[in-house]
Amino acid sequence: MPELTAQNITDVVVETLKDTSDPRLKEIMTSLLRHMHEFAREVKLTPGEWIQGIGFLTAVGQKCSAHRQEFILLSDVLGLSALVNLMYSEKAASGTATSLLGPFFRENAPVLKPGETIAAGDPAPPVLMSGRVTDEEGKPVEGALIDIWQTSSSGLYDIQGPAPDEMSYRGRFQTGKDGRYEVMTVKPLGYSIPIDGPVGMMFDALKRPIMRPAHIHVLISGEGYRELATALYMAGDPNIDSDAVFGVSSSLVVDVEPPERSGAPHRIRYDFTLTRPQPGESSVRVGADPSKVMAAAAE
Ligand code: BEZ
Ligand code: FE
Repeated sequence: MPELTAQNITDVVVETLKDTSDPRLKEIMTSLLRHMHEFAREVKLTPGEWIQGIGFLTAVGQKCSAHRQEFILLSDVLGLSALVNLMYSEKAASGTATSLLGPFFRENAPVLKPGETIAAGDPAPPVLMSGRVTDEEGKPVEGALIDIWQTSSSGLYDIQGPAPDEMSYRGRFQTGKDGRYEVMTVKPLGYSIPIDGPVGMMFDALKRPIMRPAHIHVLISGEGYRELATALYMAGDPNIDSDAVFGVSSSLVVDVEPPERSGAPHRIRYDFTLTRPQPGESSVRVGADPSKVMAAAAE
């Protein structure tokens, strides 16, 4: 090994990957090392500042729990989740655009029948959200599982409310033969990203806006298709052009239609298009619990 300097150390570290046999892992790690080192050189990072950075990342990890994914939140506020989604959507332009999964997804939401409500007891007027799930040729996808979750009409997710262990405002629905789905809900309210953790401290220091426009999350899995993580954004929301986490694209903005007659629900109509996976795509599910990904890889 040569005498190390602030300039040659990057090549020395990258050289340690010479026996890494997985080509994609090698590509990702080489680039990550080069960019991280260049960043540290560019800002002339000091040891004290880096310990502060490690302290921040440690706090992010410690804030993660079964009810909170602070690392996903961090990725979202840095725009990294949106960037990854945008690159993914560009590769499957004929499919529905993707959007953020966010930190409030929960696995195993109740499986409900078509048209059942996920918003029992909410005082807001009911909204029937419906449409079809098809493939890129417009053929219905039967048996796709649609996971839907959102805030109540007062802007809180179930896990932020008084009974965080109970699931509400979320459910799973299966498409029928014609690819149709139907879910009764209420119009969600926009909300602040969670700021009671290290990401909130960062927002405070940076003086960044904290609001998300109202939206309904959707995660669709269909046998033989790419998993689609997306969200529908409510037209007219005051924060639609200033989402704190960069999740909005125009094709995902929906109108809540008024009732067709007295006593009928409001309506959201939206069709989703699934795409086929491309060769070599990672098989890790978008909705996988990040706390279980490493254990699964070790199996
Ligand atoms: C959400 O939509 O639930 C969300 C997404 C990113 C950051 C915070 C919240
Ligand atoms: Fe959300």
